[in-house]
Amino acid sequence: MNFIEELNHLSVLIDKYLAKYFEQYDDPFENNILESMRYSLFAGGKRIRPVLSLSTAKLLSGSLDDIMPFAAAIEMIHTYSLIHDDLPSMDDDDYRRGKLTNHKVFGEAMAVLAGDCLLNEAYELLMQTALNAGNKMKHALDAAYFIARAAGKSGMISGQVIDMESEDKTVSFETLKQMYRRKTGALLKASVIAPAFYFNVPASIMDALNEYADGIGLAFQIKDDILDVESSTEELGKPVGSDEKNKKTTYVTLFGFNEAKNKLSTAVKKAVDAIMPFGEKAWFLKEMAFYIEKRAY
Ligand code: IPE
Ligand code: IPE
Ligand code: MG
Ligand code: MG
Ligand code: MG
Repeated sequence: MNFIEELNHLSVLIDKYLAKYFEQYDDPFENNILESMRYSLFAGGKRIRPVLSLSTAKLLSGSLDDIMPFAAAIEMIHTYSLIHDDLPSMDDDDYRRGKLTNHKVFGEAMAVLAGDCLLNEAYELLMQTALNAGNKMKHALDAAYFIARAAGKSGMISGQVIDMESEDKTVSFETLKQMYRRKTGALLKASVIAPAFYFNVPASIMDALNEYADGIGLAFQIKDDILDVESSTEELGKPVGSDEKNKKTTYVTLFGFNEAKNKLSTAVKKAVDAIMPFGEKAWFLKEMAFYIEKRAY
């Protein structure tokens, strides 16, 4: 299988799991919130984070079924973060995943609640998974705890705070690196590290995966910033020029295009080097790093 075939195959597995997961709910009093949550969750995201979790499970010769709930929970958290990121009080964007943003369709109150509920749903799923994990309960909780911290104040939330506080001012390179590591890198890292916790890997493997995840996390946001300038709204499925509109500081504004692209390549190389010791088994993670660099949307 080539990279794109495997990417599609894994993202279809995730879509099926998520669709089935939401089929369990049929209380009419929950219909409105579920409609809003489903709207964003099934709007057509690339599913990079859950695909990373499944492909890490494969690398570690673990079962995809075991990792699926963690992968799905991460995608729910990611989707919530996008719904809130697009709100008028944050980036104020009208399109996401090729469709109107959640608040444009359901209103701001419902968009806030749909985001909250996706986050809550993620933790319900993680706890239910740990409770049913039998003798793997401790490892499941290690994985869930890592995801929770990545999503919280030591991770994505504080990254978003730095992002909002940095609008319309010049920030240092150090602050920008922290912003990226947290707002984008943390959840991408959790996608790779949660399976490693679940399968209780030795420290040397954990270190290599951490290094890989650091590289792709940084690369992913640098590329996101480049696409915000270079791509088109049709191709991206979200508005280009959002960063300029909000006077964000990005790698592009701080260093210019060429240097941002150099730093992107360096981050990708760091990721690829980190997983060299795994050899051919890590082919997909290696291709994923190059995909993150080359992606058009
Ligand atoms: C967008 O993430 C937000 C960032 C962290 C840069 P993705 O580019 O993975 O968005 P979807 O999930 O494909 O919509
Ligand atoms: C988003 O960063 C990071 C999140 C945690 C949602 P951006 O604000 O650059 O993401 P996009 O470009 O709107 O997807
Ligand atoms: Mg933002
Ligand atoms: Mg945004
Ligand atoms: Mg962006």
